[in-house]
Amino acid sequence: MPAPERIPTGSLTAVELLAKGELTVRGRIREASNAVLYCTVAYEGESARCVYKPVAGERPLWDFPDGTLAQREVAAYEVGAALGWDLVPPTVLRDGPYGEGMVQLWIEPLAESTADAAQDGDPGAGGLLALVDGEEPGEGWKAVGLADVGEGRTALLVHADDERLRRLAVLDAVINNGDRKGGHLLPTEGGRLYGIDHGVTFNVDDKLRTLLWGWAGEPLTEEAVAALTRLAAALAPGEPLATRLAELITAAELDALRGRVAGLLSDGVHRSPSGEWPPIPWPPV
Ligand SMILES: Nc1ncnc2c1ncn2[C@@H]1O[C@H](COP(=O)(O)OP(=O)(O)O)[C@@H](O)[C@H]1O
Ligand SMILES: [Mg+2]
Repeated sequence: MPAPERIPTGSLTAVELLAKGELTVRGRIREASNAVLYCTVAYEGESARCVYKPVAGERPLWDFPDGTLAQREVAAYEVGAALGWDLVPPTVLRDGPYGEGMVQLWIEPLAESTADAAQDGDPGAGGLLALVDGEEPGEGWKAVGLADVGEGRTALLVHADDERLRRLAVLDAVINNGDRKGGHLLPTEGGRLYGIDHGVTFNVDDKLRTLLWGWAGEPLTEEAVAALTRLAAALAPGEPLATRLAELITAAELDALRGRVAGLLSDGVHRSPSGEWPPIPWPPV
């Protein structure tokens, strides 16, 4: 089977393949907190690997009473695509063997990312995150904050000064991501980086929990400003994106999304933590 990021090869788009293809469940991902099924999808001679998260397998969350996690995952993909960055694997809402759910293209992560990390205590994600002694992040790294590493010791949590992560930090601020941890960063052999697990997003309240605080307060790149400006236009009432999102998140959440985009554009800088400590997801990996 070809590498997933090269699918599709013909005129069929990944979204069409995921939406129209025949979905076959091959296994279940054990460590997931919700039901995450590993599947294949096949349509008109094309096939791909994917994940299927049926709504019926979602654990309810008190602070996300409206809609479903699956809808939020699709909305996150739509917003990412509108920014023009393809940071979220193609994701659709569709019916499947266990009812409606989200179906997302499978991304084969770099082989070393989890194995090596477990051995040397590195927080993982293929060299994108690290814990270092001292208070300076070092060349090529950005500081997140001090982390308790047990036995009364602390270390500085850092992430790579990487343009792909920087775009993801902007996407997370836009979608109000409550769960950007190391395990949700998938770097590929082909040099791409994908973010996954966007169920806890689009709340009207500030829920941003991420490891990617390294650019806090720094000016947005020109590229980010251009992408946000395009997104703001695409979110105007009546535009196709706004109409699709209105079926996935509440009207109040759509307004809050517009507000976050406008806020980033008027501030011109990356989000900073609102309190003294940067809110990071737990566990961070
Ligand atoms: N699109 C994907 N490509 C590759 N692996 C994935 C994908 N989606 C999920 N996974 C794998 O499944 C695990 C659980 O999925 P995740 O989206 O984190 O579910 P949960 O909502 O239960 O936390 C991930 O940590 C990752 O290893
Ligand atoms: Mg997860």
